[in-house]
Amino acid sequence: MKVILNAAMGFLALAIAIVVPASAEEKSLYERIGGYKGVAAAVDDLVDRLYVNKTLNQNTAINLVHEQNERAAFKLILATWVMENTGGPKIYFGRDMGNGHAHLSISNREFDIVLTECKTTFYQLGVGEKEIGELMAGLEAQREEVVTAKSN
Ligand code: HEM
Repeated sequence: MKVILNAAMGFLALAIAIVVPASAEEKSLYERIGGYKGVAAAVDDLVDRLYVNKTLNQNTAINLVHEQNERAAFKLILATWVMENTGGPKIYFGRDMGNGHAHLSISNREFDIVLTECKTTFYQLGVGEKEIGELMAGLEAQREEVVTAKSN
């Protein structure tokens, strides 16, 4: 009787595993924010926001990049970084965060401004609270490498 019961329980567990789809929690952040389409929408909105940010453009090195107006290329490379760093395809082809920003002398305040714009973009696109928390933590983790200005 015990053997039959054990076999039945085993079968039940197997049936549940097959029928019940993987929960949303098991999906990567990349999948939960809408895959490449979600990333593209966020990067598109964010970069347009950053290019016209008057405070960021007071930094002459940042302003120079914005004036060169290679906006489409910047959106592309940034999208690949986001994809790779949210558990999507590993296709980032740019520099590491330290080497990519060293010449810009970015301050903590400028870093905060960028993170604020990121959050605005996420709200604008209706990204979930949980995902926003994870995205913001992932961005915050870059601060040490990105911020190189001597003063705040
Ligand atoms: C929050 C984390 C950040 C991430 C994930 C990020 C991501 C990137 C990536 C992937 C690149 C391309 C690197 C390359 O060309 O090889 C880049 C370049 C750049 N980033 Fe960031 N960035 C961050 C913070 C910032 C901040 C805070 C600023 C300005 C205040 C900034 C301004 C720029 C500019 C202007 C470039 C272009 C540099 C150039 O082409 O000379 N980034 N960033």
